[in-house]
Amino acid sequence: MSKQGKFYGIGVGPGAPDLLTLRAVAILKIADVVCVPRSSAAKDPIALKVAGGYISPQAELLEISTPMVRDQAVLNTEWQAGAEKIAARLTAGKTVAFITIGDAMLFSTYTYLLDKVQALLPDVIAESIPGVTSFSATAALLNVALAEGNEKLAIIPAIDDPAELRCILTKFPNAVLMKVAGKYTQIVDILEELDLKNKAVLMSRLGYPDQFFTRDLDSLRGAKLDYLSLILVKREGF
Ligand SMILES: C[S@@+](CC[C@H](N)C(=O)[O-])C[C@H]1O[C@@H](n2cnc3c(N)ncnc32)[C@H](O)[C@@H]1O
Repeated sequence: MSKQGKFYGIGVGPGAPDLLTLRAVAILKIADVVCVPRSSAAKDPIALKVAGGYISPQAELLEISTPMVRDQAVLNTEWQAGAEKIAARLTAGKTVAFITIGDAMLFSTYTYLLDKVQALLPDVIAESIPGVTSFSATAALLNVALAEGNEKLAIIPAIDDPAELRCILTKFPNAVLMKVAGKYTQIVDILEELDLKNKAVLMSRLGYPDQFFTRDLDSLRGAKLDYLSLILVKREGF
């Protein structure tokens, strides 16, 4: 029986192909299998657009279905199916790399897949390779500090409960609001109510040719925002 292969999770950064780490590129060059998360048949996998240029032409591209649904049963079934495909290749001695946008350990399907692969193959050797997060790249582009001195920074996904968002924005002088596309108007209303609307920046598709940012949050009310959108809030302003 061949020696079990190693499993890598690779954060490919926010979008620009020159923001991958050297370690990420080195693994992509030697991986036998590169797992590409795909959220829907209609959309091209984002991580592949970012990292595609570094993947060996000989590598197998293995699509892993990661539907954008909240139904936990559906997600579990898809992740389990993905983990089984990965485990089969690891058992065959292949080096398998799962690519994911931004950092591998932040709001990524990779961590769920990793748990399931480890459950299937308890002895698997796994290595997670960090990537530049979307919000650190946003702060860098804007030349603003995410936090300074002993300031606190909240990093939160879109929140269903407006009261919770109000509470966090009141407590933290700096905040990163991720996955904002579906809740944009509601979020802008809350920022306005807390007198933070003019102390926020929306960043969309950072690192892609059509990236844009704006401090005029009202201008996007009613617009269809891209999934790759986030808001930075600084009580001190920008
Ligand atoms: C599932 S989370 C992935 C986060 C990612 N692992 C990271 O480290 O940034 C997806 C959210 O990250 C943010 N995001 C990721 N890439 C982005 C980009 N290029 N521009 C703006 N926001 C981005 C958006 O808020 C998006 O809804």
